[in-house]
Amino acid sequence: MFNNQRKYPENPRQNANVISLLTYWWTRHIFRTGYRKELEETDIYATLMQDRTSYLGESIRKTWEKEIKSCTKRNNRSKPLLKVLLRCFGKPYLLIGIAEGFMELFSRMYQPLLLANLLRYFASNREEWDNKVYYCAAGIILLSFIDTFITHYTIHYTMHIGLKIRIACNALIYQKILKLSNSVLSNETSTGQMINFLSSDITRLESSLWDLHYIWIAPIQIVLITYIIFSEIGWSAVIGMSMFLLFIPFQALLAKKMAPLTLKSAERSDDRLRLMNQVITGMQVIKMYVWEIPFYNLVETARKREMSVIKKYSILKQVALTFDCYVPRLCLSLQYWHTSCSEIILMLKTVYLVTAYYNVLRNSMIFGFSMGLHQMVQALVSIRRLQNFMMHTEIVKTKQNLDQPVGDSFALRMTGVHAKWQSDDKNDSLCNINLTIPAKSFVAVIGPVGSSKSSFLQAILQELPLTSGSIESRGRINYVSQQPWIFPSSVMQNILFGQAMDKLRYDKVIKICQMESDVALLPHGDRTIVGERGINLSGGQRARINLARAIYQDADIYLLDDPLSAVDSHVGKRLVDECICGYLKARIAK
Ligand SMILES: Nc1ncnc2c1ncn2[C@@H]1O[C@H](COP(=O)(O)OP(=O)(O)OP(=O)(O)O)[C@@H](O)[C@H]1O
Ligand SMILES: [Mg+2]
Repeated sequence: MFNNQRKYPENPRQNANVISLLTYWWTRHIFRTGYRKELEETDIYATLMQDRTSYLGESIRKTWEKEIKSCTKRNNRSKPLLKVLLRCFGKPYLLIGIAEGFMELFSRMYQPLLLANLLRYFASNREEWDNKVYYCAAGIILLSFIDTFITHYTIHYTMHIGLKIRIACNALIYQKILKLSNSVLSNETSTGQMINFLSSDITRLESSLWDLHYIWIAPIQIVLITYIIFSEIGWSAVIGMSMFLLFIPFQALLAKKMAPLTLKSAERSDDRLRLMNQVITGMQVIKMYVWEIPFYNLVETARKREMSVIKKYSILKQVALTFDCYVPRLCLSLQYWHTSCSEIILMLKTVYLVTAYYNVLRNSMIFGFSMGLHQMVQALVSIRRLQNFMMHTEIVKTKQNLDQPVGDSFALRMTGVHAKWQSDDKNDSLCNINLTIPAKSFVAVIGPVGSSKSSFLQAILQELPLTSGSIESRGRINYVSQQPWIFPSSVMQNILFGQAMDKLRYDKVIKICQMESDVALLPHGDRTIVGERGINLSGGQRARINLARAIYQDADIYLLDDPLSAVDSHVGKRLVDECICGYLKARIAK
């Protein structure tokens, strides 16, 4: 976040060649460093350009906006988020699928055949061996290598794409949160729900990529294996495989039953988090009235409701997994039983071949197909929830001329502005405001409490939607809110707020915001860490840090909402003289 943060070593993967990429040779430095000493944050490589939040967030935002536009044109509102994700990450994920398909349908299918051939040779006299035996052995080694490479690569890239999806979706949600309209924030969503999106739903989406490709690979594999086994042992193969096929609708049924449970469990988590949020916000009141036990019971009931759904879901999942383990073995025994009843003589090679194929199938059925179905269901539920959130109405922004410099004409102009916080409010908060503020001027808005002074500034910032009229502003706006806010970091970082350090300007800002004595009093000066919401600072100190933050950054218009309310009259006078009528006046007049 901050420009003056430490630099990380360059990522060796950026310029690694194909061999280094294939063998993971580029990772050796970090292992060597970790072997010599305990790894520290500074040993970790810089993030690759294409993995950065700024890049991923921007690309998914653009794709989302494009998709929404085309959906509105076609009057179609079906799953735009799924399409957006496929557009952004579909191609690399498809490549993973092709690699997995090659591994499962070629490499793993050939290995048992080659081994069975070797067994046939070993059963015969050594004199009868020809060159083919060496080819078989070389083939087995080569396929094992291919298998290892593909397995590691698909795992690595699936995790990589999963992380990218997580980062991109997080960025998309954060961008959306900043644009949500007031009525949505107060009625349709809550902080708890947003936390749940960022923690559970996106985690579910990220982990749903693991076995999705097995949904198409496993059925093809079953057909191929049935064909091979059929050519070895005849109709018994069909009996064994029929069990497998019967099992697929059962799996689908379980997945169908589990889908609503996933959604329900997410909704109940939302409810519990909303409740927890309210409890934490109102903790003082709860403590004052000694309401701990009733609220404890409320939270416990919410947790029980959530747990009951999670329990049902886990039972169904375990049933599915248990069947996954037993069905392949059951099919195999049924098949051998049928073969032994018929007149077919089972050779060692055939037994080996059939058992090996059932093992291949067991892997792709247990860890592949059935998990893939569950993951697909979970991913679709998460996508639906995130999509509903993304479709919430946004604040309508009026046009601002940010690029146009503040000329001599005006800095801000309001024409016939009417605005209200909620669309169903009876009265307007701002009613027919016509105003032109010339450039390089100092304007004070005064009025009794609750007379919409802050709302007036919010309208300029486009946070308060206008019902009619227009606001034009020229140049960059800096704003100091009436309620000062501090984030957990040092006093210095709270003032710099991501800007590079300019010592002269910084010292000047500290001086004119009357913070010199405060900084001297703090245990580590301006490097003192201030806790959550500036818990260890006084109200006046917090207000002045907020003022300093706005003053430090260059802007053309400064909106200060009640900046003197928390400071005493002497400090207030000095702030007006030195900061507003001194420093700011000189800067704006430039
Ligand atoms: N974020 C908000 N969401 C909904 N309503 C709001 C919001 N902020 C202010 N209001 C409503 O707008 C009206 C004016 O409040 P506002 O804070 O603008 O007054 P003010 O003049 O700044 O008061 P004060 O002098 O106490 O700061 C109030 O009735 C308040 O309920
Ligand atoms: Mg106010």
